[in-house]
Amino acid sequence: MAADLKTEIAQAVQARRNFAIISHPDAGKTTLTEKLLLYGGAIHEAGAVKARRSQRHATSDWMEMEQQRGISITSTVLQFDYDGYQINLLDTPGHQDFSEDTYRTLAAADNAVMLIDAAKGLEPQTRKLFEVCQMRSLPIFTFVNKLDRPGREALELMDEIEQELGLQTYAVNWPIGMGDRFQGVYDRRRQEIHLFERSEHGKRAARETVWKIDDPAVQDLIDPALYAQLLEELELLEELGADLDLAQVHRGKMTPIFFGSAMTNFGVELFLEAFLDYALKPNAYHSNLGDIDPTYESFTGFVFKLQANMDPKHRDRVAFIRVCSGKFEKDMTVQHTRTGKTIRLSRPQKLFAQGRESIVDAYPGDIIGLNNPGMFAIGDTIFQGKKVEFDGIPCFSPELFAYLRNPNPSKFKQFQKGMTELREEGAVQVMYSLDESKREPILAAVGQLQLDVVQFRLQNEYGVETRLEILPYTVARWVQEGWSALEAVGRIFSALTVKDSWGRPVLLFKNTWNVQQLLGDHPDLALAAIAPVA
Ligand code: G4P
Repeated sequence: MAADLKTEIAQAVQARRNFAIISHPDAGKTTLTEKLLLYGGAIHEAGAVKARRSQRHATSDWMEMEQQRGISITSTVLQFDYDGYQINLLDTPGHQDFSEDTYRTLAAADNAVMLIDAAKGLEPQTRKLFEVCQMRSLPIFTFVNKLDRPGREALELMDEIEQELGLQTYAVNWPIGMGDRFQGVYDRRRQEIHLFERSEHGKRAARETVWKIDDPAVQDLIDPALYAQLLEELELLEELGADLDLAQVHRGKMTPIFFGSAMTNFGVELFLEAFLDYALKPNAYHSNLGDIDPTYESFTGFVFKLQANMDPKHRDRVAFIRVCSGKFEKDMTVQHTRTGKTIRLSRPQKLFAQGRESIVDAYPGDIIGLNNPGMFAIGDTIFQGKKVEFDGIPCFSPELFAYLRNPNPSKFKQFQKGMTELREEGAVQVMYSLDESKREPILAAVGQLQLDVVQFRLQNEYGVETRLEILPYTVARWVQEGWSALEAVGRIFSALTVKDSWGRPVLLFKNTWNVQQLLGDHPDLALAAIAPVA
């Protein structure tokens, strides 16, 4: 490879940071995203992302269902520049649109920002997403939000993260008061106090006044009791807290913590600056050839998400690809590992919110959208140069299970075809009963939306109206050692045994208590919450 191209790729990697936000609905993900974009100059006034969201509902010709339900199914990648960096924010669908895509998006991220509501602490969706991050040892940065409202003590929140997630914590900044008495944060990196000035609904980037902690003037500006408390807590952190260890952060073992208020735009820039210093640049991905470094000379990438019907007029599908190494260029020709086909990548797209613009090139850590006339499946590798295959994306533990029935026998073929295509696309996992009399598929999903999408698309694209029969299970476990291990256990009353699309045994339980009970009775039985990649 020409030395200048190698340098170009190395520089691009050096200047890129990519992350996803993991949070529970309402913690403030949209608000924080918006404020980050504001700093990055990608938008000029807060409210734009939300406005765009609602405007889309009014004007978008995108999936009817999205309009009917007022939700956003499209996961997008937001790109902005700050301080010489190009930042890629991968949007993780949440709320009612929580689906397996939310998990898969994390497969394309190098860092995660865990956003927590100060009053609520850790919440269920955050924990689930955290577990997926842990599987990949992603570095996790914590932003504790809504400090302008009464919330839980900072030390208590740190303790919760340490105890429940098993992460070491390091507070990069520290709050001074909370709620009505929120006065700002102390930045431990620069040993400065940032005083909080409420800007008009946080619309513009807030002006913060910055003081050295030992400046006598600062003591007149802060409530004396809060100042005394700050000094006391800082002493405690210095004495008892761990030092910041970036190697541990990069292994996903320690989380740097930030406090702020996304709505009033306080602490967001401090966070962004520190994040850019500490975050991992685009990282190596594991493949059959070992780790592929981003600066490896040939272009490689993998599909982490497929989006169908973004524009129903064209019935197109978009495959979202994470660039892992080399340089992507429009119109380049690549190989498709699974099928061995050669593909010309002619209409690449960069996705900014709903707008799609064409791109000419992309580097490791970037996400591109490719039109996909049905050739891509989740986890597929594309490459130039030496044949390579990335590890693939596992199936995540579904929580909703339902028989899908096709009451109209004359539609049998369409039903089969639709189910196969939707399964291959990763819209939903499909399992089957061992009972020969029950031939209909069991849909297995992590969110209700996946079931709705399957029914909607079967009707719209394949002309099959279906009925769902929800099953009373919430937990799936793959039997790691296969059917023989299961036979050794004998009949299991607390679970339903089914097989996945690859014929592997899966146990469906009503709750995790039943899982524990079975493991208590059969300690040698190895069960996995995540399917091995087929
Ligand atoms: P999400 O995407 O994580 O679901 O959360 P979103 O940003 O939509 O925020 C959820 C609610 O929390 C919003 O209020 C938002 O204004 C509020 N919020 C976000 N950050 C902060 C913060 O730092 N402080 C306070 N006090 N509130 C915050 P809403 O009433 O649901 O919506 P809206 O009327 O403000 O649009």
